[in-house]
Amino acid sequence: MINEILLKRRSTVLFDTKSIEDAILESLFEAARWAPSSRNTQPWRFVYSVRGDEFHASMIECLNSANRIWASHAPVLLHTVAQVVSDYKDQENIYAWHDTAMAYSNLVYEATDRGLYVHPMGGFDRDMARSVLHIPERYEPVIFAALGYKSENPSKFSTELIDREARQRVRKPINELLFYGRFGTEAGFKSKQ
Ligand SMILES: Cc1cc2nc3c(=O)[nH]c(=O)nc-3n(C[C@H](O)[C@H](O)[C@H](O)COP(=O)(O)O)c2cc1C
Repeated sequence: MINEILLKRRSTVLFDTKSIEDAILESLFEAARWAPSSRNTQPWRFVYSVRGDEFHASMIECLNSANRIWASHAPVLLHTVAQVVSDYKDQENIYAWHDTAMAYSNLVYEATDRGLYVHPMGGFDRDMARSVLHIPERYEPVIFAALGYKSENPSKFSTELIDREARQRVRKPINELLFYGRFGTEAGFKSKQ
């Protein structure tokens, strides 16, 4: 068995509009702060907006139309940004994407532990995000994510979203992902499900 929290996390499309307390939101970003990074460069940045504030509508606009449908219910929209060129000697940081994902992952599991759901999205207009969110040079847009509680009243959603939520979640078997010693040499572990 693996840790329960890993199984509890899922990319829901049934968000409740219920707001998230500032103190909880703060602890999610605090969790992200403590992620490891190459040379401790901490290349991640987060831009967020709260449903109804002056920034939220323009952040929703950056999403593709399919994502907008469900993500607009979530009380918080988050954008992750990676500093891909360091301030020191203008060097490329090839680990910036990796480290930003590590920080995002910390945030996700802190959120999951607090009964929240986070749904990442690559489906957004990068140029629009850069311009709308004022992302400076040396930084790259990575993902958007919707953040909030899962609705306890799914009947108010379209059948398409309800069906999508009910779809079985699948993963590749471990022997396709794990090798022993050399790429391609199966390790012989068996997936649990
Ligand atoms: C980098 C990245 C981009 C994604 N982009 C989208 C997206 O644009 N729209 C969407 O509905 N889900 C998106 N997802 C969510 C995946 O579809 C989801 O994580 C995957 O189906 C596994 O489901 P689970 O997260 O519930 O385990 C994205 C996930 C990641 C990590």
